[in-house]
Amino acid sequence: MEIILSGIRPTGNLHLGNYFGALKNFVKLQHENKCFFFIADYHSLTTHPTPADLQGNVKNVLVEYIAAGLDPEVATLYIQSDVKEVCELYLLLNMNAYVGELQRVASFKEKIRSQPDNVNAGLLTYPTLMAADILMHRAAKVPVGKDQEQHLEMSRNFANRFNNLYKVDLFPIPIAYNFGNDLVKVPGLDGSTKMSKSNSEASVIYLCDSPEDIRKKVMRAVSDSGPTIPNQEKPQAISNLFDLMKTLSSQDAFDYFNEQYDKCTIRYGDMKKQITEDAIKFTAPFREKILELSSNNEYLHKVATMGAEKARESASKTLSQVREIIGIKSI
Ligand code: TYM
Repeated sequence: MEIILSGIRPTGNLHLGNYFGALKNFVKLQHENKCFFFIADYHSLTTHPTPADLQGNVKNVLVEYIAAGLDPEVATLYIQSDVKEVCELYLLLNMNAYVGELQRVASFKEKIRSQPDNVNAGLLTYPTLMAADILMHRAAKVPVGKDQEQHLEMSRNFANRFNNLYKVDLFPIPIAYNFGNDLVKVPGLDGSTKMSKSNSEASVIYLCDSPEDIRKKVMRAVSDSGPTIPNQEKPQAISNLFDLMKTLSSQDAFDYFNEQYDKCTIRYGDMKKQITEDAIKFTAPFREKILELSSNNEYLHKVATMGAEKARESASKTLSQVREIIGIKSI
């Protein structure tokens, strides 16, 4: 039985990128492994959400985890800030994290560009907090999308560094995981390579979207006037539509439109209709479950409390070993 862990920041509702990048793996793996899935609310503070937004989004994500098939009786579902042990491990790991390496992380450099007025220390040390999340439960596999690959590499570095410095074998070296296949990046409907609400709301299909929302977004997805040369290479926005189709539709549908593209007879309107229908079919059961769970505050509170207890039990075991290894002992 392996220890598997992942988390999602509560920045809104979950979308298809979150599902195919991370969540889907858990739904399958939770029964044969020891799974931890958490809501990374500390991580989301780097962008200064309002207290009301933060609270609302933590609840959204909890509801959507369960709606997507995570079973709180089987896996450990928890909210990061309920497990304060993570803060201590984060502090301790920061002592062996070098400013130079943190400054070279691509996501940090991207934040310097995208939010120059808020380059806070939390952003710089974001990978150490992630490592603390993972190492706290000694996870071996971390299902994430392609965008988290470098963060996982940092976690491996921190784990190795700690083990080597103290000549111990405490932390397993975690790997980014997607069923043993390549990590995925679900594209956006706006022509960008990654589905992400920070690109635009219109580029994202949420698990809770209504059929009408999905229809509008997909039909407005960026395309072009069509290929003019047989077997022409696909521009980014078009290859995005094909990638989405590969994710959501049948192989037959994919092959049909691919052939039409190669023959220059493709009608993007028809292709979008197919993607729309398949996206609606795919998300319908999630949406139903989300609506059902959202008003059940008592149940959600119970789930969060139970998850916090299980997660703290696991985290405190690791932390007391870390303290002892480092030499923090009561006199
Ligand atoms: P976050 O909240 O940005 O995204 C959550 C998960 O969804 C994946 N993802 C995607 N995968 C494929 N295609 C996309 N378009 C797409 N968009 C998002 C992300 O790769 C991620 O797996 N730092 C993390 C949260 C975190 C965490 C951790 C993850 C905190 N501590 C420890 C794993 C282990 C984050 O910001 O993910």
